[in-house]
Amino acid sequence: MNSLCHFPPLYVLVFSLLTLQYLTTTTAKCHVDDKTGLLDFKSGITADPSGLLASWKPGTDCCTWSGISCQPDNRVTSLTIFGQPDQPNSFLSGTISSSLSKLQHLNGIYLQNLRNLWGTFPNFVFSLPRIQFIYIENNRLSGQIPGNIGNLTRLESLSLVGNRFSGRIPNSISELTQLGQLNLGGNLLTGTILDGIRRLKNLTILSLGRNRLSGSIPDFLGTLTELRFLRLSHNNFSGKIPGSISALAPKLLNLELGHNALIGQIPDFLGNFHALDTLDLSWNLFSGTVPKTFENLTKIFNLDLSHNFLVDPFPDMNVKGIESLDLSYNDFHLVNIPSWVTSSPIIYSLKLAKCGIKIKLDGWKPKETYFYDYIDLSENEISGSPVGLLNRTDYLVGFYGSGDQLRFNLESMRFVKTLKYLDFSRNLVFGKLPKAISGLKLVNVSHNHLCGPIPATKLPASAFEGNDCLCGSPLPPCKV
Ligand SMILES: *[C@@H]1O[C@H](CO)[C@@H](O)[C@H](O)[C@H]1NC(C)=O
Ligand SMILES: *[C@@H]1O[C@H](CO)[C@@H](O)[C@H](O)[C@H]1NC(C)=O
Ligand SMILES: *[C@@H]1O[C@H](CO)[C@@H](O)[C@H](O)[C@H]1NC(C)=O
Ligand SMILES: *[C@@H]1O[C@H](CO)[C@@H](O)[C@H](O)[C@H]1NC(C)=O
Ligand SMILES: *[C@@H]1O[C@H](CO)[C@@H](O)[C@H](O)[C@H]1NC(C)=O
Ligand SMILES: *[C@@H]1O[C@H](CO)[C@@H](O)[C@H](O)[C@H]1NC(C)=O
Repeated sequence: MNSLCHFPPLYVLVFSLLTLQYLTTTTAKCHVDDKTGLLDFKSGITADPSGLLASWKPGTDCCTWSGISCQPDNRVTSLTIFGQPDQPNSFLSGTISSSLSKLQHLNGIYLQNLRNLWGTFPNFVFSLPRIQFIYIENNRLSGQIPGNIGNLTRLESLSLVGNRFSGRIPNSISELTQLGQLNLGGNLLTGTILDGIRRLKNLTILSLGRNRLSGSIPDFLGTLTELRFLRLSHNNFSGKIPGSISALAPKLLNLELGHNALIGQIPDFLGNFHALDTLDLSWNLFSGTVPKTFENLTKIFNLDLSHNFLVDPFPDMNVKGIESLDLSYNDFHLVNIPSWVTSSPIIYSLKLAKCGIKIKLDGWKPKETYFYDYIDLSENEISGSPVGLLNRTDYLVGFYGSGDQLRFNLESMRFVKTLKYLDFSRNLVFGKLPKAISGLKLVNVSHNHLCGPIPATKLPASAFEGNDCLCGSPLPPCKV
C-alpha cells in the first residue's frame, strides 16, 4: 500500500482544522470548579469601584474573564488582577476567598496594588499542587507568614510586598530552594536574616526593605551569587558591610542598604561592582572617604550616600549619565558641582545639600535641564541667581536652596506648572511675592529681603517671617 494514502486529502484536513477552531471557540468552557472558585472569590469582594471584575459573569466562560488565563485544556492557570496606583478608584475591598483552592491547576496568583484586600495569608495556596508564583502586593494582609511556608516547594517567586505581615520570617523558608525572587519588603517583619536563606541559591532578588529587621548583614549573602537585587533598606541592620559580599560583584545591579545603622568604611571592593546601577547607603553611620575605586562604577545611575559621616576627597567618577545623585549631609567640601554631574544627559534628581559648594549659580550650565524633577542645593555657599536655571527646567517639581547666599528678584523667576516645592529660606532674595506661590504645596521664603503683601496661602507664618516688609495673613496685616 502506498504510504501516501495514509495522509487525508487536504480538504479533510482543512475541514477538521476549521471544526477544531469552531469547537474551541464555542464549546470551550472553563472547568466548573474553576468557575465556582472564581465566583466565590468575587463574592468575597465588597467593593470594586472601577469594575476590575466586571467581566466575571456566571453565564460566561471564565477563560474569557479579565485577568484569567487558561491552558488548552481550559483549566485556569493564572489569576492576575492589577490595580492602577495612580487611579484612586482602582482597588478591591474584601478578603481572598479560600474557594480559590478549587483552581487546582493554578500556577500563578497575582493580586497587585489592590490596596484593600485584607485578612491573613491565603492558606488555600497550600492545597494548590502547581503553584509556583505568588505575588500578593500592596494590599492590607496581616498576621504572620505561616510557619509551614516551606511546604510550597515548587515556588519560584514569593512576593508579599506592601502588606502588614508581622512576626519573624519562618525558618521553613529555607526549603523553598527553587525561589528566584523573595520579596517581603514593606511589611512589619522583625528578627534577623535567617541562616536558612543561605540555601536559596537561585535567588536573583532578595528584597526585605522597609521592615523592622535587625542584626548584622549575614556573611553568607556572598554565596548567593545569582543575586541581582539586594534590598535591605529601611530596617535596623547594624555592623559592617561584610567582605564576603564582594563575591556578588559580577552580577549585582542594585544594592540598597539605606536607612539602617551600618558602620565602618565603605568597602573598596564596591568599586568592582561593574554592573551596579543603584547604590543606596544613605542614612547610616558610614565614615571615612568614599573609595577611589568608585571611579570604576561607570554604570551607576542612582547613587545615594546622603546622611552619613563621609569626608573628602570625593572620587572623580567616570559615569556617563548619572540619573539621580544625593551626597547631602556628610562632611564633604566639593567646592564645585562635579563635572560628571553637570555633563550628565539624563539627570533628573540632584541633591547636594551641605556639600561645601561655593559657586555663583548663574555660571552653572548643566548640559541637560529637561528631565530635572528635584534640585537641592541647600546649606552651601552658593551665590547669584537661580532665575536662569529655573527658566530652563521645564518639569521641575522641587527646588531647595535654603541657607545659601542667593540674591535675586523673586518677581523675575519663572514658575513652571509642575513646581510644588520651593525653599529659599535664609538667603538674600528681594522683590515681591508673585501670585504663583499660592499654587505651591510648600513655600519657604523666610529670612530674606522680600516686601509687600502675601498672596493667599494656607502656609504658616514661619514660611514668611524674617523678611523686610512682607505683610498680610499669616503675618500681621499690611499698613494702609
Ligand atoms: C507541610 O508539610 C508537613 C511535612 O511535610 C506536613 O506534615 C504538613 O501537613 C504540611 N502542611 C500543609 C498545610 O500542607
Ligand atoms: C535553580 O538552580 C538550579 C541549579 O543552578 C537549576 O538547575 C534550576 O533550574 C534552578 N531553578 C529555577 C527555578 O530557576
Ligand atoms: C535598633 O537596634 C538597636 C541595637 O542594635 C537597638 O538598640 C534599637 O532599639 C533598635 N531600634 C529600633 C527602632 O528597633
Ligand atoms: C578600575 O579597574 C581597573 C581594572 O579592573 C583597575 O586596574 C583600576 O585600578 C581600577 N581603578 C580604581 C581607581 O580602582
Ligand atoms: C527664559 O527663557 C526664555 C525663552 O527661552 C527667554 O526668552 C527669557 O529671556 C528667559 N528669561 C530669563 C529670565 O532668563
Ligand atoms: C521655613 O524655614 C525656616 C528656616 O529655615 C524654618 O525655621 C521654618 O520652620 C520653615 N517653615 C516652613 C513652613 O517650612
